[in-house]
Amino acid sequence: MARARPSYVCQNCGAVSQRWQGKCEACGEWNTIIEEGAALGVGGAAARKGLVGRAFALESLSGASKPVERIVTGISELDRVAGGGFVPGSATLIGGEPGIGKSTLLIQACATLAQRGGRVVYVSGEESTEQVRLRASRLGLSSAPVQLAAQTLVEDIVATLGSGDSPKLVVLDSIQTMWSDAVESAPGSVSQVRASSQALIRYAKSSGAAVVMVGHVTKDGQIAGPRVMEHMVDAVMSFEGDGAHAFRVLRATKNRFGATDEIGVFEMTGAGLAEVANPSALFLAGRDVSAPGAAVFAGVEGARPLLVEIQALVAPSTLGTPRRTVVGWDGARLAMVLAVLEAHGGLKLGGYDVYLNVAGGLRIGEPAADLAAAAALVSSLVGVALPHDAVYFGEIALSGAVRAVGHAGLRLKEAAKLGFLRAYTPSGAAKDEDAGRLPTSTVSSVASLVAEIAAAGVAARPRKKDEA
Ligand code: TYD
Ligand code: MG
Repeated sequence: MARARPSYVCQNCGAVSQRWQGKCEACGEWNTIIEEGAALGVGGAAARKGLVGRAFALESLSGASKPVERIVTGISELDRVAGGGFVPGSATLIGGEPGIGKSTLLIQACATLAQRGGRVVYVSGEESTEQVRLRASRLGLSSAPVQLAAQTLVEDIVATLGSGDSPKLVVLDSIQTMWSDAVESAPGSVSQVRASSQALIRYAKSSGAAVVMVGHVTKDGQIAGPRVMEHMVDAVMSFEGDGAHAFRVLRATKNRFGATDEIGVFEMTGAGLAEVANPSALFLAGRDVSAPGAAVFAGVEGARPLLVEIQALVAPSTLGTPRRTVVGWDGARLAMVLAVLEAHGGLKLGGYDVYLNVAGGLRIGEPAADLAAAAALVSSLVGVALPHDAVYFGEIALSGAVRAVGHAGLRLKEAAKLGFLRAYTPSGAAKDEDAGRLPTSTVSSVASLVAEIAAAGVAARPRKKDEA
């Protein structure tokens, strides 16, 4: 039998080529191609021996299926993102930047679940058992009956898990450190990650244990290794937040057993991650209600309303090309809102630097934030504080119109709950029949938004004309 030729695999996108190249032609990344041993894939030995597959029985869609009982860890923010607890036999991938708290979250989840009963195994490939124990004792979780190991060989791990009761939950921290004997390349390489996760997913399906794997992320926030891994697992979660702020957001980007875009909010404290039951209150804490340039956005993440402050600073620029800086929001979206404010709101922003920041380090993806961002920008430009008891939501169209967005009732209810007294909304939002709503003022276009804020400025400061 001829020796299998090595193949060259891009570590960024997983593309395979026959020779080494400096640049991957599939994804355009440089220096990502490395040599990996040929994998004994489908169609190899079996095809040569001329084996024929066995026929199996097909089933109907309406067959009886038992209701699955979910594995509830007891950390309700995590269970919520998983769709009400982990599904037995499922595989979940959790990605996030180094130091964000993945290991902390998972050891806490393991400990709370173990305390409620059932076998729970935590396998660390990055830290020694001593280090994991130290962390657990700092978190006050030493007494939880979690089974620990510092191992990286997947075959050994699967064999260990297979002996004794089958575990409810198995955590592997991280998949990039795991390696399988069946593949000849370094841990962390695409084929190793693929082979190891395949073996672990197979174990999950056959044993009914929920397997949670930690995945490293690349510079641009993607889970490192092959994208195929995201297709193989049942759920992909990302753990986000920035080092400067204490809170962390867990998001499901894929979930075969629950809603995606569901979020869980945590706060990193000296004693580990604490669940935040009322995130809006956290994001609005310490708000300066009298300063111009701040608007409260009534947002929705998943099925959950979330109020957050959007801050803007519009200041005269000394640069030829004024600065546009945005944190926590999309830069292209800011450019669009600025263009609409110029074209339809009659503002001249060409000579101003513009900074936009979502308070607390949260990242917002909803177009519904347009109206709040526009209000904050206008407020900063004209130097007039917005009403402190108002929230804003609505999508801005290129025509300057403010368009309706989903979940209006949910947004209004959350704002009312937090003591806000009115909402600036697109027309149509008020029709949403939901109890506990608060009074709404309709903003039909950016022109009326600008006029309203400017008028409030004139009323507040009759003796002085706007400097802007
Ligand atoms: P860790 O869970 O090790 O992150 P990851 O596994 O995602 O790389 O989190 C480590 C960080 O969390 C570390 O920088 C310190 C901080 N931390 C706390 O602030 N409080 C705590 O109780 C713990 C355990 C960690
Ligand atoms: Mg870690």
